[in-house]
Amino acid sequence: MRILLFALSVLFVSCTNKSEEKEAQPKEEFEMYEISEMAGLMEQMYVENTRLKERIMNNDSLGKFPEYFNKIEKATFTKGKERDDFFNTNAQTFLQLQAEIYTAKDSKKAFNEMVDQCITCHEVKCGGPIMRIKKLYIK
Ligand code: HEC
Repeated sequence: MRILLFALSVLFVSCTNKSEEKEAQPKEEFEMYEISEMAGLMEQMYVENTRLKERIMNNDSLGKFPEYFNKIEKATFTKGKERDDFFNTNAQTFLQLQAEIYTAKDSKKAFNEMVDQCITCHEVKCGGPIMRIKKLYIK
């Protein structure tokens, strides 16, 4: 199931592609698309946080911080993009905010602050997925 969701979500992506909300592309194009470690991690973070949002909304137990999110410190980027100070600083803030959700008194508020941080980095680094990321907010 995870793999299926992952494959589906990969269909509407990329930083430069502003039409990410459109229909999925034909299958041939998908097979030619090479995804970077970082882009793959981002897609997993999206799926993981979609599930976490549901658990918060249903008052279920939240589990614990997904350790693999720490790969953000090392993962390689799509050609043409680079790790820089802005990215590293904002990645650390993101990891911290993500970790706080699992112990926060107000998990909804903590979750939305984590989403704010996804967007803070994306506004500078990767505008394409912002509309999609905003859908994570718990209203
Ligand atoms: C520290 C900066 C930073 C943070 C924090 C961050 N992102 Fe990203 N995100 C990026 C960059 C840079 C890319 C482009 C990676 C690449 O192309 O290699 C990206 C790519 C993506 C993509 C597109 C992946 C693809 O398939 O091309 C999605 C979706 C995404 N991020 C969602 C999220 C979500 C959801 C969060 C928070 C849970 C988040 N991002 C947090 C910087 C960030």
